[in-house]
Amino acid sequence: MAIEKTLILLKPDAVQRGLMGEIVSRFEKKGLKAVGMKLVNVTKELAHTHYAEHKEKPFFKGLVEFITAGPTLSMVVEGDNAIAVVRKLVGATNPQNADPGTIRHDFGMVTGRNLIHASDSAASAAREIALFFKKEEIIEYKLVHEKWVYE
Ligand code: RTP
Ligand code: MG
Repeated sequence: MAIEKTLILLKPDAVQRGLMGEIVSRFEKKGLKAVGMKLVNVTKELAHTHYAEHKEKPFFKGLVEFITAGPTLSMVVEGDNAIAVVRKLVGATNPQNADPGTIRHDFGMVTGRNLIHASDSAASAAREIALFFKKEEIIEYKLVHEKWVYE
């Protein structure tokens, strides 16, 4: 087993559309464990740091406006191979290319309103978790059903 932590953001469209419960529920049902969760108003500075890899892209300004437009639910989830597992549940960047059953397919229509962010590598996960959470905001605990999720 390779237990990993990954950062998930439910972007302002997901919060405004009342989809937080529905989306969080998918991660819970999958067997992932929430070890950090809070609402944040992403500042312009944090948006620039978080999405620094895209700063030269034509969509960068719109992306920063989108992610700072209202509260975002930030989460850290943990599980075996969690970074790749979560990216699969999230689906392709453009909801119209995402597979049925993924979050972006099931709830989204366009790339600029694609509901959710998830870390794309171990290095991104470590960097992004540190950007959004203090050490003491990550809670280590056991779930009673873990032996029924993992062998
Ligand atoms: P994310 O970082 O948010 O998890 O999404 P991702 O890895 O699937 O996609 P990425 O290429 O990292 O793009 C980050 C976010 O920028 C917006 N975007 N807009 N208009 C466009 O062509 C375009 N491309 C990307 C999306 O909100 C995307 O999630
Ligand atoms: Mg990305």
